[in-house]
Amino acid sequence: MSPDDKKRQVAEEALKYVTPDTIIGIGTGSTANHFIDALAKIKHQIKGTVASSNATADRLKSHGIPVFDLNSVDEISAYFDGADESNRHLHLIKGGGGALTREKIVAAASQKFICIADDSKLVDVLGKFPLPVEVIPMARSYVARALVKLGGKPVWRENFTTDNGNIILDVHNLQIIEPVKLETELNHITGVVTNGLFALRPADLLLLGSDNGVKIVK
Ligand code: A5P
Repeated sequence: MSPDDKKRQVAEEALKYVTPDTIIGIGTGSTANHFIDALAKIKHQIKGTVASSNATADRLKSHGIPVFDLNSVDEISAYFDGADESNRHLHLIKGGGGALTREKIVAAASQKFICIADDSKLVDVLGKFPLPVEVIPMARSYVARALVKLGGKPVWRENFTTDNGNIILDVHNLQIIEPVKLETELNHITGVVTNGLFALRPADLLLLGSDNGVKIVK
């Protein structure tokens, strides 16, 4: 089975975790896109969605699925999104698509976070995938120097601007043994908007598409 087939398989399975008559949060990326396409089939069962990026909002609307502003919503029953890496504690690296800040906000505002991915995303130690960090543009060099002091090799994602008008530094060469500690340290660098570690608020459930069906990690 190709990685894309596994993503489609797990996205279909995730429909079982959608609570009827509620608002759900929707992530960004190729797996989230499969989830949106699957969700279209049961769109009349939910009240609507909150999107984690402009691209996701556009895709949801193209299917006729209602998209609400987070500020107009009291409760999000669950957030569905992919990941670039996950360890067995469901600490994640996210932000390969650059939507990490809004993803983290919608995840924080949701009662549950259901992560959907193909099985290649499960790793023993996070960090092989470069860690995305969203930065205020004028702080780029200052933050890059701070990231070097933490042992990383930051690379500016050129010709890319986030939905919030900021830049991304992708941090290579990290072996993330203590994800909660590193997420906290990165949050304290002035000029950092968000980092792509989701460890302070990990996923609650990880569904993995595989050749042998969908596996559950929790
Ligand atoms: C988007 O910013 C990311 O956090 C994605 O959720 C993540 O990169 C997973 O993407 P795929 O589903 O395309 O692998």
